[in-house]
Amino acid sequence: MGVTVWERRDRPTASAASLVEAVDGDEGRLREEVRSCTRCPLHAGRTQTVFGVGSRTASWFFVGEAPGAEEDRQGEPFVGRAGRLLDAMLRALGLDRQEVFIANVLKCRPPGNRDPEPSEIASCLPFLRAQIAAVQPRILVALGRFAAQSLLSTEQPLSRLRGGVHEYDGIPVVVTYHPAYLLRRPADKAAAWADLKRAREVVHRE
Ligand code: URA
Repeated sequence: MGVTVWERRDRPTASAASLVEAVDGDEGRLREEVRSCTRCPLHAGRTQTVFGVGSRTASWFFVGEAPGAEEDRQGEPFVGRAGRLLDAMLRALGLDRQEVFIANVLKCRPPGNRDPEPSEIASCLPFLRAQIAAVQPRILVALGRFAAQSLLSTEQPLSRLRGGVHEYDGIPVVVTYHPAYLLRRPADKAAAWADLKRAREVVHRE
């Protein structure tokens, strides 16, 4: 299959750009900004923020949707059932969570694991953008619709976004299914594996 390059190159929003500038690659400052964030109402219901985990020099950067109950309790992304599947996907690629970076679009848990609201995504996205700017990965893997649509600033459905290689701020983006979806629809794991192999080709290119 031919590789589709999404022509649209979204520039960081003004607040994302100023946050990137303000923290100037200082992960401690960015963590503190996230930890003390009250930009949207989700802060009121959180046990703690979920910043992200992994290597600051990772080649692979995985983007999920939002913390669930277990992540809210432990302060780490993808530690529940979906996380165990993500770990298995990483192992299949010969990777582990220490050497990649994993972060969510939202740093606080939406109540009852409901879908993120557009206003919550708009408030929180500058943090993810700053994390990506700091890590400068070789590939971004968007796990599910919310991660893909948020990174690519599009409302296209996942079915249209999977299958090619897009671009976010000069970094290739591969879109695949969210592990929680794959737990419900294991038949789609083969398609997800094809997505991950495409991402691996991009990482090993040149
Ligand atoms: N689902 C996500 O998108 N992120 C997590 O951290 C956990 C479950």
